[in-house]
Amino acid sequence: MAIQKHIKLLVQLLIVALAFGIANGQGLKLGFYQKTCPRAEGIVWRTTANHIYRAPSLAAALLRMHFHDCFVRGCDGSVLLNSTKNNVAEKDGIPNLSIRGFQVIDAAKTAVEAACPGVVSCSDILALVARDAIHQIKGPYWPVPLGRRDGRVSIASETLTQLPAPFANITQLKANFASKGLSVKDLAVLSGGHTVGISHCSTITTRIYNFTGKGDTDPSIDPNYVPKLKSRCVPNDKTTLLSMDPGSTKSFDSDYYSVVLKRRGLFQSDAELLNDKITRAYVKLQAQSHGRTFFQDFQKSMVKMGKIGVLTGKAGEIRRHCAVIN
Ligand code: HEM
Repeated sequence: MAIQKHIKLLVQLLIVALAFGIANGQGLKLGFYQKTCPRAEGIVWRTTANHIYRAPSLAAALLRMHFHDCFVRGCDGSVLLNSTKNNVAEKDGIPNLSIRGFQVIDAAKTAVEAACPGVVSCSDILALVARDAIHQIKGPYWPVPLGRRDGRVSIASETLTQLPAPFANITQLKANFASKGLSVKDLAVLSGGHTVGISHCSTITTRIYNFTGKGDTDPSIDPNYVPKLKSRCVPNDKTTLLSMDPGSTKSFDSDYYSVVLKRRGLFQSDAELLNDKITRAYVKLQAQSHGRTFFQDFQKSMVKMGKIGVLTGKAGEIRRHCAVIN
């Protein structure tokens, strides 16, 4: 009896360890396709470069796509799936309606499939494309361990529960990142992704025109900046675009932290970084040191983010087309 109990306990421990391992990206490794598709990483780099050369603003969109993939069901390519007759997929969830750049993933997948059919997952391609695109606009280069497999489930409503909202406060942001195994420092570092790219006016109109429902403005925004925002975004404006980091939208640098410190971050989630000891210290440090450690930190946090909830081994599948399950 005692032995049976012991074995049961051991099996339970093993299951927990396995689950933990999967959730932490064990099973991924650098050069995973070295034997099965040695040209894969080069093909992805070149395909990405062809697109970024013509449209550098896509780099921001692709970084965001990878983030949105990883935060919903792990980095399993679920953000790439199309809705079907019976299912509304993540792609059609509200936070993802402004995601751009799916054509880059499809082009990379087509090129990789031509070299090695059925070998390289869409989730790995997305992780590589995001890294390559950011490096191609002079951002950091981080190692991307590979071996992710593609999920078969994608549910629009999960985007609302799993992705942080632009109106989230610091407590909600910390809890959201913690639920993905990311630290408070990771939150401060990865928010630096907002050093590139654009936002729609509609994301901030409540913040500038009707913050508490009384026709007021979020008092945490620099009052000298409010007229500028209002002149760009009229109430109910659904189409105008705004730079996340005015002046250097297309270059990946540490200016974001100076913007936040000046209380000119676009979203409440950006401004909220000043309301926690650790995140505020990080914002100040990067703003005052011209981002001395930002690239290094970003590399580390991106590797961590890229391991969230991955499927490896025999789980999931290698999709033939990134927008549909096999
Ligand atoms: C911390 C919580 C975060 C919130 C609340 C948030 C929210 C948003 C929102 C609302 C937009 C603009 C959408 C639009 O109006 O078009 C946006 C854009 C963007 N986000 Fe975040 N984000 C967060 C974290 C991140 C992270 C971790 C990354 C990457 C590491 C990231 C990268 C980007 C990029 C690059 C864009 C610009 C996309 C483009 O130009 O198409 N964000 N984010």
